[in-house]
Amino acid sequence: MSKFIIDGGKKLYGDVNIHGAKNSALPILAATVLCQGKSVIHNCPDLSDVKVSLKILKNLGCKAKYYDSSVFVDSESISNFCIEKELMSRMRSSIIFLSVMLAKLKKANVYLPGGCELGARPIDLHIKGLEKMGAVILKDKDCLLCSLPKGHFNGAKISLSFPSVGATENIILAAATAKGRTVIENAAREPEICDLAAFLNKCGAKIKNAGKPIITIDGVERLFAAEYSVIPDRIEAVSFMAFTALNQGKVTIKNINVSHLAPVIELLKESGCRIKIYKNILSVESNDRLKAVKEIITMPYPGFPTDAQAPVMAMLTMAKGKSKFIENIFKSRYKHIKELEKMGAKIAVKGKTAVVDGICKLSAANLKCTDLRGGAAVVTAALAGEGRSTVSDIYHIERGYENIDLKLVSLGAKIKRID
Ligand code: EPZ
Repeated sequence: MSKFIIDGGKKLYGDVNIHGAKNSALPILAATVLCQGKSVIHNCPDLSDVKVSLKILKNLGCKAKYYDSSVFVDSESISNFCIEKELMSRMRSSIIFLSVMLAKLKKANVYLPGGCELGARPIDLHIKGLEKMGAVILKDKDCLLCSLPKGHFNGAKISLSFPSVGATENIILAAATAKGRTVIENAAREPEICDLAAFLNKCGAKIKNAGKPIITIDGVERLFAAEYSVIPDRIEAVSFMAFTALNQGKVTIKNINVSHLAPVIELLKESGCRIKIYKNILSVESNDRLKAVKEIITMPYPGFPTDAQAPVMAMLTMAKGKSKFIENIFKSRYKHIKELEKMGAKIAVKGKTAVVDGICKLSAANLKCTDLRGGAAVVTAALAGEGRSTVSDIYHIERGYENIDLKLVSLGAKIKRID
């Protein structure tokens, strides 16, 4: 199994380009199933999750090819209504194929999805939403046997008890070619939802108010393939901000959407970093020991993102004072803490609260990635630790960060990937 060897303590200087958003690319690739013709999706990161999406598309009978950050999909030949269990288990986003398979094939057999283990990750909101729109979904152990008896989804009014990103995506995809109007209340407002809606609208869909709590979708008969470019990955950007803040130095982060990063920018300023913004470029400069941040509460967008919690926690392990985290989105998203403690970090956890008491020095250790963003936290700390750390289970990180080692090396870090 591959691992990183990291010699900590190197300040970071230079420029880094942010790749396309994983969490946008995945639902958009699923959406191409609905389109007639050949879709071309640009700015798709070269990540294992994107590769799994291509495998699912091929498993369904579509033609799909990745070349130089672009994915080419022709879904005319789609014929298979089952996704292999192994592919379903590889990532959470596999469940987003459920709505598009039903819309296109009227039938879908899928298994429960995998993905990072962040506590129970039910899909009840996806299922309730699709059932309200006319799907019949039967559970047989870990398999969902699904059909669309009327041959199409019906528009419906769906009020989500929580603004789930995945459920909002599945419902939008079902509604795009449904008969009639769908209204989603308490919809997720993440930028990735807006990106999916923008792609579908480019294909001929009629989706209004994506990014607001109430989304309205008037179903259309057909969608036509389009060429589209995915938004930048806000969590990769946050991670490079955290690497720089903790390790000190000055890094210019390019190809970002600054408005997607507002709560993290505020937090870095509060911790003492200098942030300069020019259009879609942001520079982070950190010269002194960071200051603790009073309270970081993860919330659905536009609140502080749960995906940023782990790298930002690592960033604050050496800050002066105590920083308090409250993780509101996932029940078990503190697995990285055990790894940070191996380096000497002082973190007290009680339920969904974690209090980081900043120390002066992190020491190298043998570490492992516990999940995707937990992995980014471990790398953040290892880069700052005194001595040589090893980081194993890096396949977690490689689900969400393209060439993270090479990008860090270009900034002056001493990190080596061992296969
Ligand atoms: C998406 O996951 C992202 N994944 C996650 O990113 C991200 O952390 C999360 O949204 C929140 O922003 C992708 O886009 C592929 P949710 P998703 O449905 O859709 C509960 C990363 O690191 N819930 O908004 O699974 C659920 O248990 C990943 O890139 C239900 O109860 O998130 C959780 O507590 C990890 N029932 C909360 O809602 C449901 O039917 C948020 O989940 C669905 C969700």
